[in-house]
Amino acid sequence: MRPSSLHLESRCIHGGQHPEPVTGAVMPPIFTSSTFIQESPGVHKGFEYSRSHNATRFAFERCVANLESSGLDEAAERTCGGFAFASGLAATSTALELLDHASPLVCMDDVYGGTFRLLSRVRVRSAGLHPTYLDLTDPSLLEKHLAKNKAGMVWVETPTNPTLKVVDLSSIAAICRAHGAISVCDNTFATPMLQRPLELGFDMVMHSATKYIGGHSDVVGGVLVTRRADLAEKLRFLQNAVGSVMGPFDAYLALRGAKTLGLRMQRHCTSAMQIAQWLQKHPKVAKVIYPGLATHPQHALAAKQMRLNDAPAFGGMITILLKGGLDESRRFLENVHLFALAESLGGVESLIEHPAIMTHASVPAESRAKLGILDTLVRLSVGIEHVDDLIRDLDHGLSKV
Ligand SMILES: Cc1ncc(COP(=O)(O)O)c(C=O)c1O
Repeated sequence: MRPSSLHLESRCIHGGQHPEPVTGAVMPPIFTSSTFIQESPGVHKGFEYSRSHNATRFAFERCVANLESSGLDEAAERTCGGFAFASGLAATSTALELLDHASPLVCMDDVYGGTFRLLSRVRVRSAGLHPTYLDLTDPSLLEKHLAKNKAGMVWVETPTNPTLKVVDLSSIAAICRAHGAISVCDNTFATPMLQRPLELGFDMVMHSATKYIGGHSDVVGGVLVTRRADLAEKLRFLQNAVGSVMGPFDAYLALRGAKTLGLRMQRHCTSAMQIAQWLQKHPKVAKVIYPGLATHPQHALAAKQMRLNDAPAFGGMITILLKGGLDESRRFLENVHLFALAESLGGVESLIEHPAIMTHASVPAESRAKLGILDTLVRLSVGIEHVDDLIRDLDHGLSKV
């Protein structure tokens, strides 16, 4: 059976995987060798130097490429439409290398703070890039912008970090195609279990594998996947030429994590829905933002676009606004215990954080205010603990507010 004909849960385990040819090992060994023997100059087994070729990394790259429906993965034994990097930001940096110096690009207005920082504080200076930030929940804004301006790339996140805006991927992909812009979706929050942008016409997907794909908060990594052979060729070159590759130990951990992505996402989604509904009724909570709630402005779109086994599924991230101010947020965050107060998300353990002070501190205060990243805004990453224990923990924290 071709792995691509399997259900996604099975592809998490078998997608792009082959037993190791020498020993038949079912799980790929961690190939630590930095270099590989050549019989004669240029005559080798396809492996020269580990930055360019590493079989453990290739196994992970094939897995994610398969999950994201790259379509390029089955053809090649070695690598495919997937490219793994040392972090999510290393993946983003390499994707930006597809652009020529001084290129204009469009970026979703609400993105991970580090993506914003890389664009606005590094690449504007070092590569002369010209980013324009737009609220792409309204695709007509992109259409209007591209009618008058060029853009080499359009960078989308959906659901966004941290305000969980949902972008219509099919519409954005069609507009990008019509205007010749490379469309990239940061799919970290939804994961390929819920949403596969390449199937909706996107050119590329990016992941912080540090999050749901790795899933255990014990590895930092990133991945790019493309369905376009021309972009795959360029990314293969750039991955090696820029050199911020994922190491073999990390690739092993990330692949091990990816095998349970299907199971974990089911639990993240059901628990997050239950918690969001519970939070909505809590008197200390002013607002709950979760794409699964009917009150979410793009709920209908999310229900169509984010699906697990053909049923709507909205992910494990919830954002809330508390009543009060920064003091109330601090008291809440200091008094939850199962939810660990820490940056990051997507692990088996629940995490909670304050974006204005923590993950999005690099977004200027003015932009944060415009986006609604207020002092009372708290972001929850719902883990896979028993949901009753998580609700009890939140209830305790809120009782101290
Ligand atoms: C949505 C999103 N994209 C990208 C990144 C960057 O990934 P990394 O931390 O692995 O560099 C993060 C990190 O939090 C993120 O949340």
